Amino acid sequence: MQAAEVKADQNAAFAPRIFSGIQPSGGLTLGNYLGALKRFVEKQNEGIETIYCIVDLHAITVWQDPEKLRHATREAAAAFIAAGIDPVRSVLFNQSQVSAHAELGWIFNCVARLGWMNRMTQFKDKAGKNSENASLGLYAYPSLMAADILLYHATMVPVGEDQKQHVELTRDIAAKFNHDYKVDFFPVPEPVIEGAATRVMSLRDGTKKMSKSDPSDQSRINLTDSADAIAQKIRKARTDPEPLPDNIDGLKDRPEARNLVNIYAALSGETAEAVIAQFAGQGFGAFKPALADLAVAKLEPITTEMTRLMADPAEIDRILGDGARRADEIAQPILARTLDIMGMIRSR
Ligand code: TYM
Repeated sequence: MQAAEVKADQNAAFAPRIFSGIQPSGGLTLGNYLGALKRFVEKQNEGIETIYCIVDLHAITVWQDPEKLRHATREAAAAFIAAGIDPVRSVLFNQSQVSAHAELGWIFNCVARLGWMNRMTQFKDKAGKNSENASLGLYAYPSLMAADILLYHATMVPVGEDQKQHVELTRDIAAKFNHDYKVDFFPVPEPVIEGAATRVMSLRDGTKKMSKSDPSDQSRINLTDSADAIAQKIRKARTDPEPLPDNIDGLKDRPEARNLVNIYAALSGETAEAVIAQFAGQGFGAFKPALADLAVAKLEPITTEMTRLMADPAEIDRILGDGARRADEIAQPILARTLDIMGMIRSR
């Protein structure tokens, strides 16, 4: 598949609008925070229209215990707000409350080609060896993701590295729809992958992504971890015996060291180069405590605020309901126009 080529002014007719989503499948990690949440807040504060979604329909592509899903959805909402998303300035909601996602998702199942889906690496990773037993939803997942984005005519999609292929598929779906129906109806959205931590790696293995599904809890920092747990996980993080180099090239074949430097840079808002300049020649005996202090200082207020918010689940549900109503108001006319373009009668 070739990601759709966009003419420079292809999205000029569309107001800049950001959409992104996070799955409520288990707790969120430092990877979700640095690769997504923290950047979502920056985008909101730049004054761009921002729509953020807790994608519960995506989560059920693998089995979810109903009570745990409800809890994880509220916890994700609490994480957004605790990290700095203002549910008045941004639209914040859970996907299943806006049925247009599922409707446009079906339409895109009929636009996307099997060949495109067969190339999705995340499906291969998640389905593993037993792909015959994976749900059909897991396979169709990227076309629902395209629907999430295009339902709002979003032009920019901030994500971590691992979602790039899905956003490229979204571009292909938008371009094929526009081409097949001879319209310029959908924008061709840009993935926005920027900053020092677009791919935060496991603390146990610098070649593997930090992930909520890793069996080892030591491999990740959870947004619900206590200050002690965060400091202990950083102290025990795998590293090599060498001191930190004096330039970034010296980290090339040192994935664990590079990961910790990138985490430090993303948490402090500096570049990796600036962090290296500060710690050049020092060993991990000095660097790890500094990183642990920084991580605790940045994450503890978020965890505390999440706990406070979680004490009032009715208020979280109210916020999600309000966000869903606002999302629906944007989505409905776009879905209606899509159906009309395709020749579906709308007469009630
Ligand atoms: P999910 O729930 O796996 O992850 C949410 C966001 O966190 C980023 N992320 C990371 N970034 C850096 N390092 C890591 N170790 C790391 N782990 C996760 C992800 O890149 C993502 O940005 N399919 C999406 C959810 C989704 C979506 C959408 C995103 C559904 N519809 C529409 C954008 C637009 C997913 O499973 O993300």
